[in-house]
Amino acid sequence: MDTFPFIIFYSLISFSVLEFSTAANTLTPYQSITNGESLVSSGQSFELGFFSPSGSKNLYLGIWYYKISPETVVWVANRETPIADSYANLTINSDGNLVLFNATKGVIWSSNSSTVQNSSVAQLLNSGNLVLKKNTDADTESSYIWQSFDFPPDTLLPSMKLGWNLKTGLNRYLTSWRDATDPSPGDFTYGVDITGLPQPVLKKGSSEKIYRTGPWNGVRFSGVGVRLNPVSKPSFIASEDELYYMYEATNNLYITRLMLNQLGLLQRFILNEGSSEWAVINAVPNDTCDDYGQCGANGICRINNRPVCECLDGFIPNSQEEWDLLNWSSGCVRRTSLDCESGEGFVKLKNVKWPDLLDFWLKESLNLEECEAECLKNCSCIAYANSDIRGGGSGCLIWFGDLVDIREFNNKDGEQDIYIRMPASELSRHTGVILFYDIHILLLLSYMSAA
Ligand SMILES: *[C@@H]1O[C@H](CO)[C@@H](O)[C@H](O)[C@H]1NC(C)=O
Ligand SMILES: *[C@@H]1O[C@H](CO)[C@@H](O)[C@H](O)[C@H]1NC(C)=O
Ligand SMILES: *[C@@H]1O[C@H](CO)[C@@H](O)[C@H](O)[C@H]1NC(C)=O
Ligand SMILES: *[C@@H]1O[C@H](CO)[C@@H](O)[C@H](O)[C@H]1NC(C)=O
Repeated sequence: MDTFPFIIFYSLISFSVLEFSTAANTLTPYQSITNGESLVSSGQSFELGFFSPSGSKNLYLGIWYYKISPETVVWVANRETPIADSYANLTINSDGNLVLFNATKGVIWSSNSSTVQNSSVAQLLNSGNLVLKKNTDADTESSYIWQSFDFPPDTLLPSMKLGWNLKTGLNRYLTSWRDATDPSPGDFTYGVDITGLPQPVLKKGSSEKIYRTGPWNGVRFSGVGVRLNPVSKPSFIASEDELYYMYEATNNLYITRLMLNQLGLLQRFILNEGSSEWAVINAVPNDTCDDYGQCGANGICRINNRPVCECLDGFIPNSQEEWDLLNWSSGCVRRTSLDCESGEGFVKLKNVKWPDLLDFWLKESLNLEECEAECLKNCSCIAYANSDIRGGGSGCLIWFGDLVDIREFNNKDGEQDIYIRMPASELSRHTGVILFYDIHILLLLSYMSAA
């Protein structure tokens, strides 16, 4: 994060703005800033102050990029409690919290931390994080009493965590603005869903899944494919205490941010040196196969096929009439049901986004062969895969119930396969079928008949 592109700002700063270069980055007890005043981070990347979205008369406390115009707001304090007139005052009150007052001294917003100390100061860091800490403390995360990075609005900046602090229950997720003039929470959220294997999910309202990245496969999110992204390096941290996605900027020539817009598009923007216009370098959902559950249960989405949806091998449309009308929502059912008799095996589906983890089981200690054996042991198991694709693959992920939200990737270099259980009669229809189980039985039979 220390490599954030100061260079760009440096070259953009002309003599005419030298007067601002002494702007403070810290608010100490009894100091305050009012409308028209601001804090500027030490490396001059970000500015904290008051703004009104264009088309709105409301006043908000926010953070934006210093020296990038038009103003690109990355954080808003009083999203739901705008100030209607033009007076606002941000200060540190006697209990050490940041408090935003209006003209009649009404409290509009507060950092509202119960762990504050009366000697606290607020500092705008060059990462864009506004932190509250004891004046004497070093800049380490554990010394922060409160930080704006814990309350992201619609924008994820480099080094910001998206996800959970499992100890405190804090969940950091993005919420879109209502519209371009109103930063109050809109319809869409993007956060780490921990109901199954943890995976970032884009939702409309509280429950409708729009897009999911798939769980982390050791290298990337399994549903993202091998998309080269030269400007950011993602990571996913899963420990006892924390569970989050984060990215670092990898290139000093660009400024990058991830933003969830009011239409539910999650876009990665970059701004390169010498330019004043943000460019979108990728966005999700990116195509119809990204739409959650596009092909219904047990369907597979292939973006270059027409129609894009097909049933998985061994499955047929639940309703042929609806399927013919390109309505795939009712999905697919097995042509021949599984009977859990010997002779069942698996069909390998190569290079796909894993189905959603609705009913699953994970054992990281098992290898692929053991995983297959484990799946065959349980009549409800319908698919398995390596949970970690690194080094040829390891770990065992097993699915029960319907397989929802599978897509095929175009990139031929993906190594993310899944093995889907088939009855014996279906296996004989296919070439390229995996028959470990049957081979063992055949060997046994031939051995027995030979004996
Ligand atoms: C200031 O905020 C208080 C509390 O929210 C509110 O009752 C009052 O009307 C506001 N004053 C002005 C001038 O907006
Ligand atoms: C501060 O937090 C308490 C409890 O969490 C809540 O009831 C109160 O409304 C909050 N106050 C403000 C100003 O956000
Ligand atoms: C698709 O089929 C479902 C029933 O399976 C129905 O509820 C839905 O309205 C149909 N959608 C369209 C666009 O016709
Ligand atoms: C099979 O797996 C399901 C789901 O985890 C479980 O409820 C069931 O008890 C298992 N059956 C056997 C025979 O292990």
